[in-house]
Amino acid sequence: MRRLPLATLPTPLHDLPRLRDALGGPARCPRILVKRDDLTGLALGGNKARKLEFLIADAVDQGATVVLTTGAAQSNHARMTAAAARVAALDVHLVLTADADPPVQGNLLLDRLFGATLHFVPPPADPTLATSDEEAAKVAEVMAALRAQGERPYEIPVGGSSGVGVLGYTYGTQEIIEQLQALHERPTRLYFASGSRGTQAGLTLGAKWCDAHYDVYGVAVSGGESFKRERALRIANEAAGLAAIATRVTDDDLVTDQGYFGDGYGIPTPGCLEAIRLVARHEGVLLDPVYTAKAMACLIDHVRTGQLDPASSVLFLHTGGAPALFAHAHLF
Ligand SMILES: Cc1ncc(COP(=O)(O)O)c(C=O)c1O
Repeated sequence: MRRLPLATLPTPLHDLPRLRDALGGPARCPRILVKRDDLTGLALGGNKARKLEFLIADAVDQGATVVLTTGAAQSNHARMTAAAARVAALDVHLVLTADADPPVQGNLLLDRLFGATLHFVPPPADPTLATSDEEAAKVAEVMAALRAQGERPYEIPVGGSSGVGVLGYTYGTQEIIEQLQALHERPTRLYFASGSRGTQAGLTLGAKWCDAHYDVYGVAVSGGESFKRERALRIANEAAGLAAIATRVTDDDLVTDQGYFGDGYGIPTPGCLEAIRLVARHEGVLLDPVYTAKAMACLIDHVRTGQLDPASSVLFLHTGGAPALFAHAHLF
């Protein structure tokens, strides 16, 4: 598949020594490495830049005139899709879930700056879920209206999680492995926030393909495990087909810890708020309350409960999300 360069790659990979000290130092805490995909560069960065390099190239190759995607009002994916579409001179429509009058802050403010046409639907009745049937119906309605206007719309599924999008972290894994080799690091585990599962599908396929020595440990930020597992499996293997990779992902390869999303998608937990403060104050690195801080809260908990060997190292994939902090100012 063709790739449209959108991200500034490779992103840095470094360790977090002061966070390690804050968690008890080398006697209690493994070396914590971080892969800085918050610094992918596209419109304030984040993991979606890697998926969008393939998705937007595919949209252009299919002759699309407009891109449509979905997410929450503070969706990082929607913000980055809007920016990526503009790089390719495409128009952009976003179907966003939100209560009435969401604050024009963070990602939503940026969606407006990119000139996206916004369509709002109410949030899902189940707070653990990030998407709803109403959203899917609205997408179908907007797609039909765009076609009726003579446009050629390209639909990017929620989170950019399709077989094409999965290629981002399949190839992104090669970058991680090369950097670890250059640093002579062999982390035992890769922690990251898992939402719509495209990142997980790519990291899991990539790890098998590249024979990675770490296990791929997703931390769920929302519910819907059974359908998301099916999706992860399907899109990982679609990506394997697209990239002509012989290996296949199986259900056993997919690990997604359900213990850290608390009451639901986008609802902060005490652990996630602590993680934001801890990482900001000790490392000058910004996490976000919806995704990365929930994954970091899991890592911190694993350190504190002695689940990780202090003589080992672990890798945390920072997937971005800091723009959402501005829409959560009341929490700090
Ligand atoms: C900051 C951040 N981290 C992690 C994720 C999860 O990625 P995925 O949807 O591929 O599981 C997202 C998705 O929107 C995100 O914005």
